[in-house]
Amino acid sequence: MTIDLPLLPLGRGVDLSAERGVECPGDLPAASDPDLVARALAAKEALGERVFVLGHHYQRDEVIQFADVTGDSFKLAREAAARPDAEFIVFCGVHFMAESADILTSDTQQVILPDLAAGCSMADMARLSQVEDAWDALVDAGIADSVVPVTYMNSSADIKAFCGRNGGAVCTSSNAETALEWAFDQKGGVEAGAKVLFFPDQHLGRNTAVLKMGLSLDDCVVWDPHRPHGGLTVEQLRDATMILWKGHCSVHGRFTATVVDELRATLPDVQILVHPECTHDVVLKADLVGSTEFIIQTIEAAPAGSTWAIGTELNLVKRLAAAHPDKHIAFLDKTVCYCSTMNRIDLPHFVWAMESLVAGTVPNRIEVDPETKQWALVALQRMLDLPGRSHKD
Ligand code: 13P
Ligand code: SF4
Repeated sequence: MTIDLPLLPLGRGVDLSAERGVECPGDLPAASDPDLVARALAAKEALGERVFVLGHHYQRDEVIQFADVTGDSFKLAREAAARPDAEFIVFCGVHFMAESADILTSDTQQVILPDLAAGCSMADMARLSQVEDAWDALVDAGIADSVVPVTYMNSSADIKAFCGRNGGAVCTSSNAETALEWAFDQKGGVEAGAKVLFFPDQHLGRNTAVLKMGLSLDDCVVWDPHRPHGGLTVEQLRDATMILWKGHCSVHGRFTATVVDELRATLPDVQILVHPECTHDVVLKADLVGSTEFIIQTIEAAPAGSTWAIGTELNLVKRLAAAHPDKHIAFLDKTVCYCSTMNRIDLPHFVWAMESLVAGTVPNRIEVDPETKQWALVALQRMLDLPGRSHKD
């Protein structure tokens, strides 16, 4: 049995597609074309082993059905790296994921994002020039030598390259704790005064630092790139252990502690399961917190009849509810919407990309320049080399 999921509007997220110059070239098939599924199947069959389709868990059902592998951003990065024979990687996800796939695959492989407007509002909240300004402030404060930059996977390739160049690493929601431990160790540990500059998601950084690493909220400060000197004094920077970037996910940031309280009042047996991109007060009230892979595994392992409210992207929650009719699964909020940029990849764009490949044209190739690639790979490789995982994938 499922608990009714609200039908919600699409929306939210900063759409920087105009800035990226991302008009879709060529003719998109009409969404009403009744043959779209057959056309996608035919194109996939025609391309055979030459193409490998990756699908993030937040993708629409109409697209995810064509994925050779589904996963969270960490799993998909590893899957891309593990397919050296596929000439084309069609990435059904968002721009930063396709960039990471390009960085992790060989120069003979081509990564395609079916709609270039599929960006990520969180990734867009940290620009390289802003991060360099923050770093300059740390240098001026005399503390840069104690700071390791760690960027969430949800960031552009040039931010990952910045971390590679400056002794830092990438992390994802499923290995943030291990990545932070590694980062503090690079400078002799927290007791020795080691600090982390963490971007772009303040919530993942704070939740991991406080709930997994035993730091206090007072150990964390927030650098606001839109305020002079990040809105912080030199003393605040020197006293902090975690310098969090003022960025957030426009989807996960909308879940509220009030709705958690309301659900607990109406469904006494409910277990609250949320993604660590949710705000700290929501995570504090949750029963379980973890990446999308963790959320999926938790629901798969849950006993029949158990009741859950899940705080993550709606496409995934609806799919979990449909796949587990023996469990009661609700969305954690009445008003939170889909990730609008993830939803840009729809069946017409997928068919258009696949048929273009069949016709011998490579559409919407995501190609990171060689120097950025070299340094971003350093940061990504440091993540891939981290020991263990905080959950099995
Ligand atoms: P993960 O895929 O790492 O769980 O991150 C969630 C997300 O917001 C992806 O954009
Ligand atoms: Fe970005 Fe959030 Fe959408 Fe993920 S869910 S792509 S972090 S806006």
